[in-house]
Amino acid sequence: MDFNLSEEHQAVQAAARDFAQTELLPGVSERDAAQHFDPDLLHKMGELGFLGMMVAPEYGGGGMDTLAYVLAMEEISKVDASAGVIMSVNNSLVCWGLEKYGTEAQKQQYLTRLAAGEIIGAFCLSEPEAGSDATSQHTTAFPNGNYYLLNGTKNWITNGNTSAVCLVIAQTHPELRHKGINAFIVEKGWEGFSVGRKEDKMGIRASDTHTLMFSDVPVPAANRIGEDGFGFRFAMNVLNGGRIGIAAQALGIAAGAFELSLKYSKERKTFGKPIADHQAIQFKLSEMATKIEAARLLVYKAARLKDEGRDYIQAAAMAKLYASEVAMWVTTEAVQVHGGYGYVREYHVERLMRDAKITQIYEGTSEIQKLVIARELLK
Ligand code: CAA
Ligand code: FAD
Repeated sequence: MDFNLSEEHQAVQAAARDFAQTELLPGVSERDAAQHFDPDLLHKMGELGFLGMMVAPEYGGGGMDTLAYVLAMEEISKVDASAGVIMSVNNSLVCWGLEKYGTEAQKQQYLTRLAAGEIIGAFCLSEPEAGSDATSQHTTAFPNGNYYLLNGTKNWITNGNTSAVCLVIAQTHPELRHKGINAFIVEKGWEGFSVGRKEDKMGIRASDTHTLMFSDVPVPAANRIGEDGFGFRFAMNVLNGGRIGIAAQALGIAAGAFELSLKYSKERKTFGKPIADHQAIQFKLSEMATKIEAARLLVYKAARLKDEGRDYIQAAAMAKLYASEVAMWVTTEAVQVHGGYGYVREYHVERLMRDAKITQIYEGTSEIQKLVIARELLK
Protein backbone atom coordinates (compact mmCIF):
# COMPACT_ATOMS: atom_id res chain seq x y z
CA MET A 1 0.00 0.00 0.00
CA ASP A 2 1.39 3.39 -1.04
CA PHE A 3 1.49 5.95 1.77
CA ASN A 4 3.32 8.61 -0.21
CA LEU A 5 1.24 11.74 0.03
CA SER A 6 0.27 13.44 -3.22
CA GLU A 7 0.72 17.18 -3.67
CA GLU A 8 -3.00 17.65 -2.97
CA HIS A 9 -2.76 15.65 0.26
CA GLN A 10 0.26 17.68 1.36
CA ALA A 11 -1.62 20.90 0.60
CA VAL A 12 -4.60 19.81 2.73
CA GLN A 13 -2.25 18.82 5.54
CA ALA A 14 -0.45 22.18 5.36
CA ALA A 15 -3.73 24.13 5.32
CA ALA A 16 -5.05 22.25 8.35
CA ARG A 17 -1.74 22.73 10.19
CA ASP A 18 -1.78 26.43 9.43
CA PHE A 19 -5.39 26.84 10.60
CA ALA A 20 -4.67 24.87 13.77
CA GLN A 21 -1.55 26.85 14.65
CA THR A 22 -2.82 30.33 13.81
CA GLU A 23 -6.52 30.12 14.66
CA LEU A 24 -7.07 27.25 17.09
CA LEU A 25 -3.96 27.37 19.28
CA PRO A 26 -4.31 30.92 20.68
CA GLY A 27 -7.55 30.32 22.65
CA VAL A 28 -7.50 26.56 23.14
CA SER A 29 -6.91 26.58 26.92
CA GLU A 30 -9.55 29.27 27.46
CA ARG A 31 -12.14 27.32 25.43
CA ASP A 32 -11.33 24.19 27.44
CA ALA A 33 -11.82 26.08 30.72
CA ALA A 34 -15.01 27.82 29.52
CA GLN A 35 -16.44 24.61 27.98
CA HIS A 36 -17.35 26.63 24.94
CA PHE A 37 -16.40 26.49 21.26
CA ASP A 38 -16.27 29.90 19.60
CA PRO A 39 -18.98 30.04 16.85
CA ASP A 40 -16.72 32.30 14.75
CA LEU A 41 -14.08 29.58 14.69
CA LEU A 42 -16.68 27.02 13.67
CA HIS A 43 -17.76 29.37 10.91
CA LYS A 44 -14.16 29.66 9.71
CA MET A 45 -13.79 25.87 9.73
CA GLY A 46 -16.83 25.74 7.45
CA GLU A 47 -15.47 28.46 5.14
CA LEU A 48 -12.16 26.61 4.84
CA GLY A 49 -14.01 23.42 3.90
CA PHE A 50 -13.16 21.38 7.01
CA LEU A 51 -16.77 20.47 7.79
CA GLY A 52 -17.71 18.73 4.54
CA MET A 53 -14.37 17.50 3.27
CA MET A 54 -15.49 14.22 1.64
CA VAL A 55 -18.82 15.48 0.26
CA ALA A 56 -19.03 15.81 -3.52
CA PRO A 57 -18.69 19.40 -4.82
CA GLU A 58 -22.22 19.24 -6.31
CA TYR A 59 -23.49 19.10 -2.70
CA GLY A 60 -21.20 21.86 -1.51
CA GLY A 61 -18.34 19.71 -0.20
CA GLY A 62 -14.63 19.45 -0.89
CA GLY A 63 -14.81 16.22 -2.89
CA MET A 64 -11.75 14.87 -1.08
CA ASP A 65 -10.89 11.32 -0.11
CA THR A 66 -10.72 9.79 3.36
CA LEU A 67 -6.93 10.10 3.49
CA ALA A 68 -7.17 13.88 3.02
CA TYR A 69 -9.79 13.95 5.77
CA VAL A 70 -7.63 12.02 8.27
CA LEU A 71 -4.63 14.24 7.51
CA ALA A 72 -6.71 17.30 8.39
CA MET A 73 -8.21 15.60 11.47
CA GLU A 74 -4.71 14.76 12.72
CA GLU A 75 -3.40 18.33 12.35
CA ILE A 76 -6.46 19.90 13.95
CA SER A 77 -6.59 17.40 16.84
CA LYS A 78 -2.88 17.94 17.56
CA VAL A 79 -3.88 21.37 18.77
CA ASP A 80 -7.58 21.19 19.67
CA ALA A 81 -9.24 17.80 20.08
CA SER A 82 -12.60 19.48 20.71
CA ALA A 83 -12.47 20.98 17.22
CA GLY A 84 -11.51 17.47 16.08
CA VAL A 85 -14.64 15.81 17.44
CA ILE A 86 -16.99 18.53 16.18
CA MET A 87 -15.42 18.08 12.75
CA SER A 88 -15.46 14.29 12.93
CA VAL A 89 -19.17 14.02 13.76
CA ASN A 90 -20.17 16.45 11.01
CA ASN A 91 -17.93 14.91 8.34
CA SER A 92 -17.83 11.20 8.88
CA LEU A 93 -21.12 10.46 10.64
CA VAL A 94 -23.64 13.06 9.45
CA CYS A 95 -22.44 14.20 5.99
CA TRP A 96 -21.08 10.82 4.92
CA GLY A 97 -24.22 9.01 6.10
CA LEU A 98 -26.52 11.42 4.26
CA GLU A 99 -24.49 11.42 1.06
CA LYS A 100 -24.20 7.64 0.97
CA TYR A 101 -27.74 6.70 1.99
CA GLY A 102 -29.94 9.81 1.72
CA THR A 103 -32.45 10.53 -1.05
CA GLU A 104 -31.76 13.33 -3.53
CA ALA A 105 -34.37 15.48 -1.77
CA GLN A 106 -32.74 14.86 1.62
CA LYS A 107 -29.34 15.78 0.20
CA GLN A 108 -30.67 19.00 -1.35
CA GLN A 109 -32.51 19.95 1.83
CA TYR A 110 -29.82 19.10 4.41
CA LEU A 111 -26.48 17.93 3.04
CA THR A 112 -25.58 21.07 1.10
CA ARG A 113 -25.87 23.28 4.19
CA LEU A 114 -24.15 20.73 6.46
CA ALA A 115 -21.23 20.31 4.06
CA ALA A 116 -20.71 24.07 3.86
CA GLY A 117 -20.79 24.34 7.65
CA GLU A 118 -23.84 26.65 7.50
CA ILE A 119 -25.46 24.25 9.95
CA ILE A 120 -23.95 21.52 12.15
CA GLY A 121 -25.18 17.97 12.55
CA ALA A 122 -25.37 15.46 15.38
CA PHE A 123 -25.53 11.66 15.36
CA CYS A 124 -27.83 10.16 17.98
CA LEU A 125 -27.47 6.46 18.69
CA SER A 126 -26.57 6.21 22.40
CA GLU A 127 -29.19 6.10 25.14
CA PRO A 128 -29.04 5.78 28.92
CA GLU A 129 -29.68 2.02 28.55
CA ALA A 130 -28.03 1.51 25.14
CA GLY A 131 -24.36 2.47 24.77
CA SER A 132 -22.18 -0.47 23.74
CA ASP A 133 -25.34 -2.56 23.57
CA ALA A 134 -26.64 -0.39 20.76
CA THR A 135 -29.29 -2.80 19.45
CA SER A 136 -31.27 -2.27 22.71
CA GLN A 137 -32.89 0.95 21.45
CA HIS A 138 -35.65 2.25 23.74
CA THR A 139 -36.39 5.34 21.64
CA THR A 140 -39.37 4.52 19.44
CA ALA A 141 -40.65 5.84 16.12
CA PHE A 142 -44.07 4.45 15.30
CA PRO A 143 -45.83 5.28 12.01
CA ASN A 144 -48.76 7.72 12.18
CA GLY A 145 -50.08 8.61 8.71
CA ASN A 146 -47.34 10.37 6.73
CA TYR A 147 -45.34 10.83 9.91
CA TYR A 148 -43.51 8.82 12.54
CA LEU A 149 -43.99 9.83 16.16
CA LEU A 150 -40.62 9.91 17.88
CA ASN A 151 -40.40 9.29 21.65
CA GLY A 152 -37.44 8.74 23.92
CA THR A 153 -34.11 10.04 25.20
CA LYS A 154 -30.64 10.12 23.64
CA ASN A 155 -27.63 10.93 25.79
CA TRP A 156 -24.00 11.88 25.30
CA ILE A 157 -24.79 13.66 22.04
CA THR A 158 -21.82 15.58 20.61
CA ASN A 159 -22.95 18.90 19.03
CA GLY A 160 -26.16 18.30 21.01
CA ASN A 161 -26.85 21.98 21.46
CA THR A 162 -25.08 23.56 18.48
CA SER A 163 -26.56 21.20 15.88
CA ALA A 164 -29.54 22.16 13.74
CA VAL A 165 -30.07 18.68 12.34
CA CYS A 166 -29.84 15.33 14.13
CA LEU A 167 -29.67 11.82 12.70
CA VAL A 168 -31.73 9.86 15.22
CA ILE A 169 -31.80 6.06 15.49
CA ALA A 170 -35.05 4.60 16.86
CA GLN A 171 -36.97 1.35 17.12
CA THR A 172 -40.03 0.98 14.86
CA HIS A 173 -40.66 -2.78 15.03
CA PRO A 174 -39.48 -4.01 18.48
CA GLU A 175 -40.34 -7.62 17.63
CA LEU A 176 -37.72 -7.52 14.83
CA ARG A 177 -34.99 -6.31 17.23
CA HIS A 178 -32.14 -4.63 15.30
CA LYS A 179 -33.81 -5.34 11.97
CA GLY A 180 -36.77 -3.15 13.07
CA ILE A 181 -34.67 -0.05 13.74
CA ASN A 182 -34.84 3.09 11.56
CA ALA A 183 -32.74 6.23 11.17
CA PHE A 184 -34.37 9.66 10.76
CA ILE A 185 -33.35 13.21 9.96
CA VAL A 186 -34.81 15.33 12.74
CA GLU A 187 -34.70 19.12 12.91
CA LYS A 188 -34.19 21.15 16.06
CA GLY A 189 -37.20 23.25 16.81
CA TRP A 190 -39.74 20.62 15.85
CA GLU A 191 -42.53 20.33 18.40
CA GLY A 192 -41.67 17.95 21.24
CA PHE A 193 -37.88 18.06 20.67
CA SER A 194 -35.94 19.46 23.62
CA VAL A 195 -32.28 19.78 24.57
CA GLY A 196 -31.40 18.58 28.04
CA ARG A 197 -28.45 19.06 30.33
CA LYS A 198 -24.92 19.72 29.19
CA GLU A 199 -22.27 17.25 30.44
CA ASP A 200 -19.37 18.61 32.51
CA LYS A 201 -16.57 16.51 31.02
CA MET A 202 -12.98 15.47 31.78
CA GLY A 203 -11.75 16.28 28.28
CA ILE A 204 -12.82 17.63 24.87
CA ARG A 205 -14.53 20.19 27.07
CA ALA A 206 -15.06 22.83 24.38
CA SER A 207 -17.31 20.44 22.45
CA ASP A 208 -20.88 20.38 23.72
CA THR A 209 -22.35 17.06 24.86
CA HIS A 210 -26.05 17.00 25.71
CA THR A 211 -29.02 14.78 26.44
CA LEU A 212 -31.79 15.15 23.84
CA MET A 213 -35.45 14.37 24.55
CA PHE A 214 -38.25 13.54 22.13
CA SER A 215 -41.90 13.64 23.11
CA ASP A 216 -44.28 12.77 20.26
CA VAL A 217 -42.05 14.57 17.75
CA PRO A 218 -43.73 14.28 14.34
CA VAL A 219 -41.07 13.24 11.82
CA PRO A 220 -42.14 13.21 8.14
CA ALA A 221 -41.90 9.73 6.61
CA ALA A 222 -39.78 11.36 3.87
CA ASN A 223 -37.11 11.95 6.53
CA ARG A 224 -36.50 8.25 7.12
CA ILE A 225 -33.08 7.20 5.78
CA GLY A 226 -33.16 4.09 3.59
CA GLU A 227 -35.74 1.34 3.51
CA ASP A 228 -37.84 0.37 6.53
CA GLY A 229 -35.60 -1.46 9.02
CA PHE A 230 -32.29 -0.15 7.61
CA GLY A 231 -31.49 2.03 10.65
CA PHE A 232 -29.14 -0.25 12.57
CA ARG A 233 -27.17 -1.20 9.49
CA PHE A 234 -27.03 2.52 8.66
CA ALA A 235 -25.60 3.28 12.11
CA MET A 236 -23.00 0.49 11.92
CA ASN A 237 -21.92 1.39 8.37
CA VAL A 238 -21.59 5.05 9.31
CA LEU A 239 -19.64 4.17 12.46
CA ASN A 240 -17.12 2.08 10.50
CA GLY A 241 -16.03 5.27 8.73
CA GLY A 242 -16.48 7.37 11.86
CA ARG A 243 -14.02 5.15 13.70
CA ILE A 244 -11.32 6.10 11.16
CA GLY A 245 -11.99 9.77 11.99
CA ILE A 246 -11.73 9.15 15.75
CA ALA A 247 -8.56 7.10 15.18
CA ALA A 248 -7.15 10.16 13.37
CA GLN A 249 -8.22 12.36 16.27
CA ALA A 250 -6.38 10.03 18.69
CA LEU A 251 -3.33 10.04 16.42
CA GLY A 252 -3.35 13.85 16.40
CA ILE A 253 -3.61 14.04 20.20
CA ALA A 254 -0.65 11.65 20.54
CA ALA A 255 1.42 13.47 17.91
CA GLY A 256 0.67 16.85 19.49
CA ALA A 257 1.81 15.62 22.93
CA PHE A 258 4.94 14.09 21.39
CA GLU A 259 5.93 17.29 19.56
CA LEU A 260 5.59 19.29 22.77
CA SER A 261 7.65 16.69 24.67
CA LEU A 262 10.42 16.67 22.08
CA LYS A 263 10.70 20.46 22.23
CA TYR A 264 10.55 20.63 26.02
CA SER A 265 13.15 17.88 26.47
CA LYS A 266 15.70 20.00 24.59
CA GLU A 267 14.92 23.13 26.64
CA ARG A 268 14.63 21.82 30.20
CA LYS A 269 17.93 21.27 31.97
CA THR A 270 18.60 19.03 34.98
CA PHE A 271 21.96 17.95 36.38
CA GLY A 272 23.68 20.39 34.04
CA LYS A 273 22.26 19.15 30.73
CA PRO A 274 19.02 19.06 28.76
CA ILE A 275 16.75 16.25 29.93
CA ALA A 276 16.89 14.98 26.30
CA ASP A 277 20.48 13.95 27.07
CA HIS A 278 19.28 11.52 29.77
CA GLN A 279 18.83 8.10 28.24
CA ALA A 280 15.61 7.51 30.24
CA ILE A 281 14.01 10.47 28.45
CA GLN A 282 15.45 9.41 25.06
CA PHE A 283 13.87 5.97 25.49
CA LYS A 284 10.49 7.55 26.24
CA LEU A 285 10.76 9.71 23.10
CA SER A 286 11.78 6.70 21.00
CA GLU A 287 8.86 4.61 22.20
CA MET A 288 6.42 7.48 21.73
CA ALA A 289 7.60 8.07 18.14
CA THR A 290 7.46 4.36 17.28
CA LYS A 291 3.95 3.84 18.61
CA ILE A 292 2.71 7.01 16.86
CA GLU A 293 4.19 5.84 13.56
CA ALA A 294 2.53 2.42 13.94
CA ALA A 295 -0.81 4.09 14.74
CA ARG A 296 -0.41 6.41 11.74
CA LEU A 297 0.12 3.45 9.41
CA LEU A 298 -3.04 1.74 10.70
CA VAL A 299 -5.06 4.95 10.28
CA TYR A 300 -3.78 5.58 6.75
CA LYS A 301 -4.36 1.93 5.83
CA ALA A 302 -7.99 2.05 6.97
CA ALA A 303 -8.50 5.31 5.04
CA ARG A 304 -6.89 3.88 1.89
CA LEU A 305 -9.03 0.71 2.05
CA LYS A 306 -12.17 2.84 2.33
CA ASP A 307 -11.06 5.03 -0.58
CA GLU A 308 -10.35 1.96 -2.71
CA GLY A 309 -13.84 0.61 -2.01
CA ARG A 310 -12.47 -2.40 -0.15
CA ASP A 311 -13.72 -3.88 3.15
CA TYR A 312 -12.48 -1.68 5.99
CA ILE A 313 -14.54 -2.79 9.03
CA GLN A 314 -11.63 -4.62 10.69
CA ALA A 315 -9.01 -2.06 9.63
CA ALA A 316 -11.11 0.80 11.04
CA ALA A 317 -11.62 -1.01 14.35
CA MET A 318 -7.90 -1.85 14.58
CA ALA A 319 -6.92 1.75 13.81
CA LYS A 320 -9.32 3.11 16.43
CA LEU A 321 -8.33 0.54 19.05
CA TYR A 322 -4.60 1.04 18.60
CA ALA A 323 -4.50 4.80 18.03
CA SER A 324 -6.67 5.49 21.08
CA GLU A 325 -4.51 3.26 23.32
CA VAL A 326 -1.40 5.02 21.94
CA ALA A 327 -2.96 8.44 22.58
CA MET A 328 -3.59 7.57 26.23
CA TRP A 329 -0.09 6.12 26.71
CA VAL A 330 1.78 8.87 24.87
CA THR A 331 -0.05 11.72 26.61
CA THR A 332 0.60 10.16 30.04
CA GLU A 333 4.30 9.88 29.18
CA ALA A 334 4.24 13.46 27.85
CA VAL A 335 3.09 14.71 31.24
CA GLN A 336 5.94 12.70 32.81
CA VAL A 337 8.52 14.23 30.46
CA HIS A 338 7.29 17.70 31.50
CA GLY A 339 7.51 16.84 35.23
CA GLY A 340 5.52 19.21 37.46
CA TYR A 341 5.05 21.62 34.57
CA GLY A 342 3.16 18.88 32.75
CA TYR A 343 0.61 18.75 35.51
CA VAL A 344 -0.54 22.36 35.09
CA ARG A 345 -2.65 23.90 32.35
CA GLU A 346 -0.02 26.20 30.85
CA TYR A 347 1.91 23.45 29.06
CA HIS A 348 -1.01 21.84 27.16
CA VAL A 349 -0.01 18.21 27.78
CA GLU A 350 -2.40 17.77 30.74
CA ARG A 351 -5.27 18.83 28.47
CA LEU A 352 -4.14 16.42 25.77
CA MET A 353 -4.03 13.64 28.39
CA ARG A 354 -7.60 14.46 29.45
CA ASP A 355 -8.67 14.65 25.79
CA ALA A 356 -7.05 11.30 24.95
CA LYS A 357 -9.26 9.30 27.32
CA ILE A 358 -12.47 9.77 25.37
CA THR A 359 -10.98 8.21 22.24
CA GLN A 360 -11.01 4.86 24.09
CA ILE A 361 -14.72 5.27 24.85
CA TYR A 362 -16.79 6.89 22.09
CA GLU A 363 -17.69 5.46 18.70
CA GLY A 364 -17.31 2.06 20.38
CA THR A 365 -15.12 1.44 23.44
CA SER A 366 -11.78 -0.38 23.11
CA GLU A 367 -13.56 -3.54 24.29
CA ILE A 368 -16.18 -3.16 21.52
CA GLN A 369 -13.42 -2.65 18.90
CA LYS A 370 -11.88 -5.96 20.07
CA LEU A 371 -15.29 -7.59 19.71
CA VAL A 372 -15.66 -6.21 16.15
CA ILE A 373 -12.12 -7.33 15.21
CA ALA A 374 -12.69 -10.82 16.67
CA ARG A 375 -15.97 -11.21 14.76
CA GLU A 376 -14.21 -10.31 11.53
CA LEU A 377 -11.34 -12.72 12.31
CA LEU A 378 -13.71 -15.57 13.12
CA LYS A 379 -16.11 -15.03 10.19
N1 CAA B 1 -20.33 -2.99 10.41
C1 CAA B 1 -21.44 -3.41 9.75
N2 CAA B 1 -22.39 -4.15 10.35
C2 CAA B 1 -22.19 -4.49 11.63
C3 CAA B 1 -21.06 -4.10 12.37
C4 CAA B 1 -20.10 -3.32 11.70
N3 CAA B 1 -19.01 -2.87 12.31
N4 CAA B 1 -21.16 -4.58 13.62
C5 CAA B 1 -22.31 -5.26 13.69
N5 CAA B 1 -22.93 -5.22 12.48
C6 CAA B 1 -24.20 -5.81 12.09
C7 CAA B 1 -24.16 -7.34 12.18
O1 CAA B 1 -23.67 -7.88 10.98
C8 CAA B 1 -25.62 -7.65 12.43
O2 CAA B 1 -26.36 -7.55 11.24
P1 CAA B 1 -27.18 -8.82 10.65
O3 CAA B 1 -27.97 -9.40 11.77
O4 CAA B 1 -28.00 -8.19 9.57
O5 CAA B 1 -26.13 -9.75 10.15
C9 CAA B 1 -26.10 -6.49 13.27
O6 CAA B 1 -25.19 -5.43 13.05
C10 CAA B 1 -26.12 -6.82 14.75
O7 CAA B 1 -24.85 -7.28 15.09
P2 CAA B 1 -24.64 -8.37 16.21
O8 CAA B 1 -25.58 -9.50 16.02
O9 CAA B 1 -23.19 -8.66 16.27
O10 CAA B 1 -25.17 -7.53 17.49
P3 CAA B 1 -24.60 -7.39 18.93
O11 CAA B 1 -25.65 -6.70 19.70
O12 CAA B 1 -24.05 -8.68 19.46
O13 CAA B 1 -23.30 -6.40 18.75
C11 CAA B 1 -22.22 -4.28 18.37
C12 CAA B 1 -23.40 -5.21 18.07
C13 CAA B 1 -21.10 -4.56 17.36
C14 CAA B 1 -21.66 -4.43 19.75
C15 CAA B 1 -22.79 -2.86 18.16
O14 CAA B 1 -23.89 -2.68 19.03
C16 CAA B 1 -21.78 -1.76 18.40
O15 CAA B 1 -21.01 -1.42 17.49
N6 CAA B 1 -21.80 -1.10 19.62
C17 CAA B 1 -21.04 0.09 19.85
C18 CAA B 1 -21.91 1.30 19.60
C19 CAA B 1 -21.13 2.52 19.21
O16 CAA B 1 -20.09 2.45 18.57
N7 CAA B 1 -21.67 3.69 19.52
C20 CAA B 1 -21.11 4.92 19.09
C21 CAA B 1 -22.14 6.00 19.20
S1 CAA B 1 -21.73 7.43 18.21
C22 CAA B 1 -20.50 8.20 19.01
O17 CAA B 1 -19.98 7.72 19.96
C23 CAA B 1 -20.09 9.52 18.37
C24 CAA B 1 -19.09 10.24 19.12
O18 CAA B 1 -18.74 9.90 20.20
C25 CAA B 1 -18.46 11.40 18.60
P1 FAD C 1 -21.36 0.76 28.51
O1 FAD C 1 -21.86 0.20 27.27
O2 FAD C 1 -22.24 0.70 29.72
O3 FAD C 1 -19.97 0.09 28.87
C1 FAD C 1 -19.38 0.11 30.19
C2 FAD C 1 -18.10 -0.74 30.14
O4 FAD C 1 -18.40 -2.11 29.85
C3 FAD C 1 -17.13 -0.28 29.05
O5 FAD C 1 -15.80 -0.46 29.49
C4 FAD C 1 -17.40 -1.26 27.93
O6 FAD C 1 -16.33 -1.43 27.04
C5 FAD C 1 -17.70 -2.54 28.70
N1 FAD C 1 -18.53 -3.46 27.93
C6 FAD C 1 -19.84 -3.31 27.57
N2 FAD C 1 -20.27 -4.36 26.88
C7 FAD C 1 -19.20 -5.22 26.76
C8 FAD C 1 -19.00 -6.48 26.13
N3 FAD C 1 -19.96 -7.09 25.43
N4 FAD C 1 -17.78 -7.07 26.24
C9 FAD C 1 -16.78 -6.45 26.91
N5 FAD C 1 -16.91 -5.24 27.53
C10 FAD C 1 -18.10 -4.64 27.45
N6 FAD C 1 -23.06 8.59 21.36
C11 FAD C 1 -23.79 8.98 20.27
O7 FAD C 1 -24.69 8.26 19.83
N7 FAD C 1 -23.54 10.15 19.65
C12 FAD C 1 -22.57 11.00 20.06
O8 FAD C 1 -22.36 12.06 19.47
C13 FAD C 1 -21.79 10.62 21.20
N8 FAD C 1 -20.83 11.46 21.69
C14 FAD C 1 -20.24 11.15 22.88
C15 FAD C 1 -19.41 12.09 23.50
C16 FAD C 1 -18.88 11.84 24.75
C17 FAD C 1 -18.01 12.87 25.41
C18 FAD C 1 -19.16 10.60 25.41
C19 FAD C 1 -18.62 10.30 26.80
C20 FAD C 1 -19.93 9.66 24.79
C21 FAD C 1 -20.49 9.92 23.53
N9 FAD C 1 -21.36 9.01 22.93
C22 FAD C 1 -22.08 9.39 21.83
C23 FAD C 1 -21.68 7.77 23.60
C24 FAD C 1 -20.59 6.72 23.48
O9 FAD C 1 -20.58 6.18 22.18
C25 FAD C 1 -20.86 5.64 24.55
O10 FAD C 1 -20.53 6.23 25.80
C26 FAD C 1 -20.05 4.38 24.31
O11 FAD C 1 -20.50 3.72 23.15
C27 FAD C 1 -20.11 3.42 25.53
O12 FAD C 1 -21.42 3.24 26.00
P2 FAD C 1 -21.75 3.41 27.57
O13 FAD C 1 -21.21 4.72 27.98
O14 FAD C 1 -23.19 3.14 27.77
O15 FAD C 1 -20.90 2.28 28.30
